[in-house]
Amino acid sequence: MATASRPVPRPGVLDIEAYVPGKSAAPAGVKLHKLSSNETPLGPSPKAVAAYGALSGKLELYPDGSATKLREAIAGRYGLDASRILCGTGSDELLQLITKAYLGDGDEGVFTEHGFLVYRIAILAAGGKPVVVKEKNFTADVDAILAAVTARTKIVFLANPNNPTGTYLPFDEVKRLQAGLPSNVLLVLDAAYAEYVRRNDYASGLELVAESENVVMTRTFSKIYGLANLRLGWLYGPAHIVDALERIRGPFNVNGAAIEAGTAAIADEAHVAAAIEHNDKWLAWTTAELGKLGLTVTPSVGNFILIHFPQTSDKSAKQADAFLTQRGLILRAVGAYGLPDCLRLTIGSEEANRLVVAALAEFLAGKA
Ligand SMILES: Cc1ncc(COP(=O)(O)O)c(C=O)c1O
Repeated sequence: MATASRPVPRPGVLDIEAYVPGKSAAPAGVKLHKLSSNETPLGPSPKAVAAYGALSGKLELYPDGSATKLREAIAGRYGLDASRILCGTGSDELLQLITKAYLGDGDEGVFTEHGFLVYRIAILAAGGKPVVVKEKNFTADVDAILAAVTARTKIVFLANPNNPTGTYLPFDEVKRLQAGLPSNVLLVLDAAYAEYVRRNDYASGLELVAESENVVMTRTFSKIYGLANLRLGWLYGPAHIVDALERIRGPFNVNGAAIEAGTAAIADEAHVAAAIEHNDKWLAWTTAELGKLGLTVTPSVGNFILIHFPQTSDKSAKQADAFLTQRGLILRAVGAYGLPDCLRLTIGSEEANRLVVAALAEFLAGKA
């Protein structure tokens, strides 16, 4: 057998399209409003910042590899069993650990048409086959997901609410999905935006995890807690799944600064409440104002909205993106999500939201 002249990745690795993060640059001299990665305009809790700073004198020490303090803080906040919580370097790492542990060569991982991009990457990286299911009205369709399940299916990913659409499935629908899956298929409920949702028929999935053997829920400190830069997420799952993931994670996968800041952040409920209040107000305002401009906005329950632009004219999403970028307003192009005619806007500060609406009014009026 011929030997390659240099190391070669496993088959399939070089076919993976790397994740492209939201842009974060504006033209020189223009004030930047980064509205491309669903970060909170309120920033982190001052208590989390103080806890982070307090660690600076201890950088030579390894962190607690079990993140015990943080797991107990999360367990206390949600009334959970701390031994069934696993923390990770962002929920991204947890999604990758899940595919690494539960999906082998040729196994299928299911997600929806406009689902979060990391699912595809994680499935491919594990040697699996991505199976993409059509959505209905930019919303996951339980019947279509169930119809896509085969004997090779190992994992179903559902972002609830979903990014970048902002739509969600009521808890009854999530339960119907779980009830319809074979018991060996793992249902991953990615609840990265759960804290923002203000709907009586929504639940993040903790209850379902508690009463099933094949459901895990992931959460993040990157969004409402404002700690994206520290990379911190957590998962709640059945003991047997947490045990499997524990075996393959890095021994110190969560750094000490993240443990300290995350613990302080989860205790600062007033800060989270302020973020929810800000989002409620500006999500509604921005949606309504863009609607008045004649733009279609998919109704969102998260801290971002999907804005639809006309397909053919000189008012396309691409042109809008360029127009806004010139003014320091950085939105997220979502062509990679199969939404080339849309931009995703994170709900920002009052100043940023007003600037975006004013700039889009100008753009649509053709004064570009
Ligand atoms: C649906 C969804 N899941 C997971 C993540 C990953 O978050 P993190 O790795 O920062 O915890 C994101 C971030 O954009 C997301 O939108």
